Amino acid sequence: MTSHGAIKKANIDVFDMAETEWVNVGKEGLFYKPARVDLDSGKFLGLFRFDPYAESGLHQHEDVGASYILSGSVTDYGGTFTQGCVGINPPGDTHDAYSYEGVLIVSRLEGSSRYPMKDEQLSAIHPGAHRDQFPEVAATRDPIVVPYKLLDIAPSPDMPEGVTLRILYDYAHTDHDFRMTSLHLDPGAKIPSYSTVEKQDIFIIAGDLTTGGVPAKSNQFLTLEPGTEAELTSNFGCHILVWSDAPVSFSTYHGSDPFGF
Ligand SMILES: [Fe+2]
Repeated sequence: MTSHGAIKKANIDVFDMAETEWVNVGKEGLFYKPARVDLDSGKFLGLFRFDPYAESGLHQHEDVGASYILSGSVTDYGGTFTQGCVGINPPGDTHDAYSYEGVLIVSRLEGSSRYPMKDEQLSAIHPGAHRDQFPEVAATRDPIVVPYKLLDIAPSPDMPEGVTLRILYDYAHTDHDFRMTSLHLDPGAKIPSYSTVEKQDIFIIAGDLTTGGVPAKSNQFLTLEPGTEAELTSNFGCHILVWSDAPVSFSTYHGSDPFGF
């Protein structure tokens, strides 16, 4: 299912978040804005918003959530994720997230979350959330959950000229062999033509990006279906997040994989 505000060309979809409505989840101060959402599986690509003093309520992640804080902050017992932080919730991660100042988060979720058994109706920020018994909660939290700043990650070597890659998360110890990466493209930089083998999702944090001839800009998602041919170029520079479900194949480029594999 896709939201309105989508522009389709070939196997590349553009989702303009500036043209997409916030969905209130039925609880005060909690909203999402989807590029892609499946209420059965809980798979989600889009934005989350907590208004000041909003709280998620206690929940347990059933599959990976991989996020980046665009503005504001959100706090749980382990620390505070502020603007510029990467936030990873591995399967089984159990917490109650509270935002004192409000927060805007870009996220891709591979599944939903379970909430404690109660008689009252569930209104949760996680699409497809449900009430269930919690499996045992680990006494020691996965260290991947600790807040870390995107710019503190060392760039990967051997990239095309003008391209800076940071591998934010490699989905180790999960059921997925995906990559969440950050790419800065300098003005005029290019990632040479490639074909996707599996799905690839892009969020443009800032700047301009042309993907297989499709122009896009800040606050827009792009989704590339398997088998899509594209090259990535930027006229005046951009900072993007890319979630890749598999390595892509290049015809002429022989450098290091720019999507973190
Ligand atoms: Fe969570």
